[in-house]
Amino acid sequence: MSTPKILVTRRWPQETLDRVAEVGDVTFRDPDTTMSQDEFMAAAREYDVIMPTVSDKIPAEFYPAAKGKVKILASYGVGYNHIDVDAARANDIAVTNTPDVLTDCTADLAMGLLLTAARRIGEGERETRAGKWEGWRPTHMIGKKVSGATLGIVGFGRIGQAMAKRAHFGFGMKIVFQDAWEVPDDIKAAAGNATQLSSINEVAAHSDFLSLHCPGGADTFKLINAEVFGAMKKGCILVNSARGDVVDEDALFDALDSGKLTAAGLDVYMGEPALDPRFLKYENIVLAPHLGSATDGTRNAMGHRAIDNLEAFLAGEKPRDLVS
Ligand code: DGY
Repeated sequence: MSTPKILVTRRWPQETLDRVAEVGDVTFRDPDTTMSQDEFMAAAREYDVIMPTVSDKIPAEFYPAAKGKVKILASYGVGYNHIDVDAARANDIAVTNTPDVLTDCTADLAMGLLLTAARRIGEGERETRAGKWEGWRPTHMIGKKVSGATLGIVGFGRIGQAMAKRAHFGFGMKIVFQDAWEVPDDIKAAAGNATQLSSINEVAAHSDFLSLHCPGGADTFKLINAEVFGAMKKGCILVNSARGDVVDEDALFDALDSGKLTAAGLDVYMGEPALDPRFLKYENIVLAPHLGSATDGTRNAMGHRAIDNLEAFLAGEKPRDLVS
């Protein structure tokens, strides 16, 4: 390929924009909004490389239209459920993502959501800001004890393991988890002697807190549904920093109403950034705006990782994070 025409769909941290500018003939799309379907269809015939993010929704018609023109979707973000990997492969479009570099920050955020939901920090802050705090008293804003409780993890990949380490080594939590792969003993030991259980329902039944770390997409759509909430230990707290579509939101509200679920700490939502208006009615849901990887170091590292992948691809090498 001579000088590749590259489209960066969203605003990235400046140092990574400066670096990608050196890689080819780059269009930095402005405004900083998700690409429309029409824009994707136009880009399909114009660019050799598209660098989308997890918030870009790529239409099904894009892939055949881009065949022979777009060579790679070098995505910024670890999740790639916004990309139809099979369609990309069928149309000779490579796909890369940016794992590893956001593991710690995403697990930090999940732990923060767990603590905030358990100890009612969001509610407390709202009360204080509203000038409604009436002072210390033994029965004021009682939360749920975190230290020593059991944390259930759904999805025991990099971020699930990092969450387990924080919870076990930081807060003395017992770890149980579910994952489709048989996790080797050394990984379980390093993650706080975590115990693998055979099903999500079993994990839910044993857990005081349930944290989701599985990928999004068709395989995990509404994985956490009425059946799982039904199996849950009463008073459980749910944390979701994975993908919104993993949780059946109707079932979530039912579980909160029935008291099965005490609280939830959420970073992601079905159809985000639009939120089901019911979310705003519940004081016991912590609502974060998809902040898992949002730290300066990590967002830079994600950009550099996407560019590393692209440079390898353009050099005819196998990119480190080739998804397909
Ligand atoms: C990802 O990368 O998949 C996160 O959801 C955003 O950082």
